[in-house]
Amino acid sequence: MNGIDTDLHRKAWLQALNSGDTISMSAAAYPDLEILYTRQQIAERVAELGAQITRDLNGEKLVMVGVLKGAAPFLADLARAVQVDATFDFVATSSYGHGSRSSGAVKLIKDLDQPIEGKNVLVVEDILDTGITLAYLRKLFLQQRPKTLRIATLLDKPSRRIEEIKPDYVGFSIPNLFVIGYGMDYAERYRNLPDICLMTPDHPE
Ligand code: PRP
Repeated sequence: MNGIDTDLHRKAWLQALNSGDTISMSAAAYPDLEILYTRQQIAERVAELGAQITRDLNGEKLVMVGVLKGAAPFLADLARAVQVDATFDFVATSSYGHGSRSSGAVKLIKDLDQPIEGKNVLVVEDILDTGITLAYLRKLFLQQRPKTLRIATLLDKPSRRIEEIKPDYVGFSIPNLFVIGYGMDYAERYRNLPDICLMTPDHPE
């Protein structure tokens, strides 16, 4: 996309950092992006989810499994919000061929590093959409007989569901909007926006 002036972007970030200003840096850097959830709202919700997960574990250990790449920022923040003995692992999936994920075919491109048998596993996702990815992962992980298998997703789009998946922890339930930031991308960009923003159809590329 070339509608964003990279020099202006860099200056806006530096200005915001140097001023110690609490205004949204993403809003400053991308003035034409509308914020759906600010970093403060995300942090508050992540803290609530962390407390809930801590309570549910009742002092037991946890394996947090992030689904790359989008879940990375959420996993990093959620991991610091849970007060449990936790380890991390990561998986990566992609759709087969060039079709969309709604074709139903998911390919595992990075498997777990460690076995999860007998462990409390929390799958961490940035967004749950059709449910096809998580249905695939759930089936795969259950074959390893974890003690518990729970799902945490920062965003949930229940209206888009094809596979039946009921997440245990949901940050925000949203309608079918195109969201970017806080891990979520448009053509691999915008994952580093600290706020969750809306990608409008007329946004310049
Ligand atoms: C997103 C998201 C989930 C998946 C959800 O990943 O992180 O893994 O889509 O969609 P579904 O419920 O319809 O299966 P994406 O393929 O965009 O990869 P990324 O995390 O690398 O951005």
